[in-house]
Formats: sequence, C-alpha cells, structure tokens
Amino acid sequence: MLNATIKWMSSDNRNERWMEFKENHQLLTCCRSTDMGSQCGAGVSLTAIFVCAWPSGVPPVNCSPVSNRLKQKWALVTGASSGFGAETARQLADLGANLLLGARREDRLAQVAAECQERGAASAHIQRLDVSDTVSVNSFAEWAKATAGRVNVLINNAGGAHGVDRVEDGHDADWEAMFQSNALGILRVSRAMLPLMKPYSGGIIINVGSIAGRVAYEGGSAYCASKAAEHSITKTLRLELNGTGLRVGTIDPGMAETEFSMVRLKGDKQKADAVYAGVEPLTAGDVAEAIVWAANRPPHVCIDEILMMCTAQAAPYKVHRTEA
Ligand SMILES: NC(=O)c1ccc[n+]([C@@H]2O[C@H](COP(=O)([O-])OP(=O)(O)OC[C@H]3O[C@@H](n4cnc5c(N)ncnc54)[C@H](OP(=O)(O)O)[C@@H]3O)[C@@H](O)[C@H]2O)c1
Repeated sequence: MLNATIKWMSSDNRNERWMEFKENHQLLTCCRSTDMGSQCGAGVSLTAIFVCAWPSGVPPVNCSPVSNRLKQKWALVTGASSGFGAETARQLADLGANLLLGARREDRLAQVAAECQERGAASAHIQRLDVSDTVSVNSFAEWAKATAGRVNVLINNAGGAHGVDRVEDGHDADWEAMFQSNALGILRVSRAMLPLMKPYSGGIIINVGSIAGRVAYEGGSAYCASKAAEHSITKTLRLELNGTGLRVGTIDPGMAETEFSMVRLKGDKQKADAVYAGVEPLTAGDVAEAIVWAANRPPHVCIDEILMMCTAQAAPYKVHRTEA
C-alpha cells in the first residue's frame, strides 16, 4: 500500500493546493476526478502537478517544489565551486534553469557544471570569478552578458570566514579577505549584474548572510561585522530597487557542514571536525533548499529574510552536543 501527496498549481500561479492520500484507490479516484480543477477556480487551468508516493509507514523524501517558475530562467550563482553554492546550482538544475556559475577554482566549477547538466539544467556555464577583485567581477559580467544577455536570479553566495582570533590577535589579511568577499563582493557583483536584471521584472537577488550578522560572538569580530554589512546591503538594495519589480532577500544560516570550517581554520581538519562534533548540523542541501524555495516564489512575493539553524543550535554560542 502507498501513501501519497499530490500537489498542483493553477495557471494564475496563485492556487497552490495539495491533498494527502492514505490509500491507493483514493489517489486514483482524485486523479480521474475534476477535484483538482474545481479547487483552482473557474477558467483557470492546471499548469503543474506533482505526485509524491511512498510506502505506508515511511516518511516522504525529496519532495520537489510543486510549482516551477525557474525552468529556462537564467540563474547566476557565485561561490558555486563548493558548499551552498554548488548545492544551489544542483537544485536549480533539477528545476531546469540555465546556470551561470562563478568561483575561483575552475576545476571544481567544471565538475559542478557537469553534474548540473546531468540533473537537467537547461544549460550550465562556468567562468572564473574572484568577487574581491573589481576587474574580475566586471569581466565576469561581460561574460554573463555575452553568454546569456540577462540574469533572472542572482545568488550572492561567495564568501566565508578566515580565522577565529580575538581582535587583539587579529590579522589584517583575514579581516580584509572577509570584508572583500562577504561585503564588498556583494556590492561589486550586484552593481555589475543589475543592468542585466533590471529590464526583466520578476527577478530576484538572494544574498547569503549568516546568524553571525545578527549575533556577535568572541573570535568572530570581522566575520560578524562583514555579515552585518551583508544585511545592511540587502536592506539598502531592497529599498533602492522598490518599484522595479526586482526582489531582494537574505538567507542567514547558522552552523552548516561545508568547506567553511576548513577554510576558516586554515586546513586544520581536526579543529574543523570539532566544530560539528556531537551535532547534526545543517547541510548544504538544507540551505540550498531555502535559497531555491525563495527564488521560486511568484513575482509578487519577496522573501526578505530567512534565519535558519540546525535544531541543536539555539544561538552561535549555544549548541547542544551529544557525547560521542
Ligand atoms: N557553512 C556555514 O556554517 C555557514 C553559515 C552561515 C553562512 N555561511 C556563508 O555561506 C556562504 C557559502 O559558504 P559555504 O558554507 O558553502 O562554504 P564553502 O564550502 O567554503 O564555499 C564557499 C564558496 O565561496 C567561494 N568563494 C570564496 N571566496 C571567493 C571569492 N573571493 N571569489 C569568488 N568565490 C569565492 C568559494 O569558491 P572558490 O574558493 O573556488 O573561489 C566557494 O565556492 C559564505 O558566504 C559563508 O560565509 C556559511
């Protein structure tokens, strides 16, 4: 016996409905009936139907979004060579988007792009990008213009943390790297891409912030400050673009297991592993799901902010750990 959820979307993109079935015959009856159409309203046809079935007693897994507004859209992801960016690219590929992927490690980008093609991306293009360098960002924008001519979805994700030193022991190179990528990088990339976005209403910019931008913690001064800057940049863009039809929002995750801690702790695997010891942290997939969900909302909906943490983390410094 199967349990099933069936979801459907009407052609006005507003009527997202779902029904859950516990018995096969209930599901079949619904599929044959006009219930789905009647619930969407007169004169509105169905544009998307999604069925998720699973054996009784087993919870459903990997339910894709019911509606797909990203098919064939041009989505640009910075920092697509690993972590949230790579996983966001993969999940956008699942929805059939065209992808423009940037980061400094081109071999890793090529790997991600190949996976995206396999998963159904309409196309996947890569180009080296260093968001801390204006020349690199501007030439990336020229490449995007020549390749796609437009950007519908911009995911400003590139960045990270460098070091955990207290202010009194801090290093200029670490501080500068964090402000360059986490704050100035978003400004540079947004400035360069807006001309490719503004002519097409319904576009969206999603910046990746952090719980660190909202709550300071010892050893996080420059990282927290750079992510607080990301928050202010997001809010400013939201105001400046009001009336253009472009949306702007921030996704702010807490602890997530990616290459983030290896970068922050300068390749010390033991210390990086200790960050996640005794905890089930967020995964790149969890965060990418939130990003793609926000990007997939209809044009009249702007997800301004999402703050998400793993259940074990109630604050940057309050993490419940179980014994090994
Ligand atoms: N993991 C967490 O716990 C966590 C929590 C909250 C927020 N965040 C934020 O989430 C974002 C993604 O991090 P992640 O966790 O996915 O870490 P990650 O696995 O280390 O990925 C970071 C990505 O950013 C790229 N990047 C870094 N500096 C860049 C630069 N100057 N120019 C272009 N690309 C650059 C890296 O690519 P290349 O090295 O190839 O350039 C890589 O693709 C970051 O902004 C990070 O601050 C992470």
